[in-house]
Amino acid sequence: MKATDPNFIGRKIPEYSNVQVMSYLISTHHEFTRNIMDEIDDLIALAQKEVTEPPEELGVLANLWKKYHRDMVMHLHDEEKILFPWIRELDESGRSRDEVARNYSGSIKQMLEEHEHHEEDIERVKKLSDQLSQKGGFIPVLARLSYKLRQLTNDLEEHMRIESELLFPRILGKTPA
Ligand SMILES: [Fe+2]
Ligand SMILES: [Fe+2]
Repeated sequence: MKATDPNFIGRKIPEYSNVQVMSYLISTHHEFTRNIMDEIDDLIALAQKEVTEPPEELGVLANLWKKYHRDMVMHLHDEEKILFPWIRELDESGRSRDEVARNYSGSIKQMLEEHEHHEEDIERVKKLSDQLSQKGGFIPVLARLSYKLRQLTNDLEEHMRIESELLFPRILGKTPA
């Protein structure tokens, strides 16, 4: 994480406790992601309706978007309902990772690894956003769609960095398995 970058809004985050980091993530990045994904949903539908000869990337995006959106909503939900409560309990109980994991359904390890998949998806969406902007940036609805996609991926990159480079290593590095 670029903690020294003065433009990085989360530069104080490394000083937060785990519980504070999770609360920060939920009230900023998780909330933002849910809202902007709903907006993107609407923009894709609008673009498909309004643009007469759309670039082929609109169709490619529309095809992958439903699953991408659904998977991301599920991921946010699982973090809030399973992974983050597990981390909180780990912090508070002083017990081992596996002991605490037994109280939770779902695979914690799998959740920690899920981020690798997100990075590939983010790259794909970023590329589509660039292509939509290049080919249709003069069409208002495509310009808005491309811009929102870029906001989403920028936000996700910061969000993933906080989780993958700060929060999760703290858990995996300091506590006994
Ligand atoms: Fe998250
Ligand atoms: Fe995550």
